[in-house]
Amino acid sequence: MSQHKITVTVNGEATTHEVDARTLLVHYIRENLDLTGTHIGCDTTSCGACTVLVDGQAIKSCTMFAVQADGRNVETIEGMAAGGDLHPLQEGFWEKHGLQCGYCTPGMILSAKHLLDKNPNPTEDEIRAGISGNLCRCTGYNKIVEAVLYAAEKLREEATA
Ligand code: FES
Ligand code: FES
Repeated sequence: MSQHKITVTVNGEATTHEVDARTLLVHYIRENLDLTGTHIGCDTTSCGACTVLVDGQAIKSCTMFAVQADGRNVETIEGMAAGGDLHPLQEGFWEKHGLQCGYCTPGMILSAKHLLDKNPNPTEDEIRAGISGNLCRCTGYNKIVEAVLYAAEKLREEATA
């Protein structure tokens, strides 16, 4: 099996490991780095539970090889709370009851972060489009949309404070 040495910056820290060419990014994150907040729901690019940001783009990490992340920046749910303070998106999901079992939540939050980074003042329809690659089997999307609207407003307030 061919092994490749890769260096990936994950949540601001450089990580270097030998991986198989076939190792998926989601397995690298969960098994090599022990960052198990990135979930696997389907392994077939359908559910979005594995969503992370790669150089700021929301990527389903079950669909990308770890070697393709070599030299790039990856952000996972573990990188969202700066200094122990919840990110406004995390706070929004808490305040607006945007989760039940929580399985989809890390991927939802990363997709929403990608959206808000590009569009700080999205409409409800834009939020629904932004999270359309993420499936939730239990909460219902209205609460998730409310959570993202809450975060968008808070981030805009922080930006002008
Ligand atoms: S586990 Fe990657 S999309 Fe479902
Ligand atoms: S909160 Fe359970 S899958 Fe979304």
